Amino acid sequence: MSRVAVVTGGSRGIGEAISVALKDLGYKVAANYAGNDDKAKAFADATGIPVYKWDVGDHQACLDGCAQIASDIGPVDIVVNNAGITRDGILLKMSFDDWNEVMRVNLGGCFNMAKATFPGMKERGWGRIINIGSVNGQAGQYGQVNYAAAKSGIHGFTKALAQEGARFGITVNALAPGYIDTDMVAAVPPPVLEKIVAKVPVGRLGQPEEIARGVAFLCSEDAGFVTGSTLSLNGGQHMY
Ligand code: CAA
Repeated sequence: MSRVAVVTGGSRGIGEAISVALKDLGYKVAANYAGNDDKAKAFADATGIPVYKWDVGDHQACLDGCAQIASDIGPVDIVVNNAGITRDGILLKMSFDDWNEVMRVNLGGCFNMAKATFPGMKERGWGRIINIGSVNGQAGQYGQVNYAAAKSGIHGFTKALAQEGARFGITVNALAPGYIDTDMVAAVPPPVLEKIVAKVPVGRLGQPEEIARGVAFLCSEDAGFVTGSTLSLNGGQHMY
């Protein structure tokens, strides 16, 4: 029996690599996306993975989207909360909207997707929730009070929900990527990015596939004893 996995933000960047890796491992994958229709269509055509458009920051849309996936493919066993946005800027210049939007999507999305899927996982006695955090949620980052707070919140959310899920066979873990070769990181001004990468002991950006392999482990039967943990994949940028 193939498990059904939903990857939010699953048609681009790290999410794309996760969707493809899980499909290659035999999972039935559905990729959620929010905005880029052309990219989502190209992704679906290239991979055969169905795409579902909704905003993970919208609570009802998550309930409806997961119900649709359950009816099309099967009940959701695995959720990878990967969807995330940046609205970088120093606090002095950051608007309330830039604060709120990042919290709504990056952290609110995790809550919304868990609400949509946890009850079914509990009923079936098995589930995996993997939340994509960030090195910047662990260590902080100049110009990212919104993003760092949301990602740090994801780490707390993970540890709390792991305690609730354990007795139902649901594991909840976080994976904290460092700077990965994606459009999001490419948007960081080159001189700033160079300085950041210079401080990464392995001396390079990570690749999306390197994150996907970590997610695949956390989804697996082999990871049944792993819950409430954070897997940090950051080239040594931050160690603790
Ligand atoms: N520590 C202390 N001071 C710093 C600093 C730092 N790390 N970085 C910059 N400053 C100083 C600058 O030297 C400058 O000082 P002066 O005014 O005295 O010259 C001042 O702060 C303003 O800096 P900027 O010119 O950079 O300010 P800006 O308003 O033009 O830009 C910014 C601010 C948009 C936040 C820009 O610095 C930036 O893009 N930083 C990178 C943020 C980042 O890493 N985002 C990650 C996105 S990818 C991601 O988030 C994925 C993931 O999970 C890892």
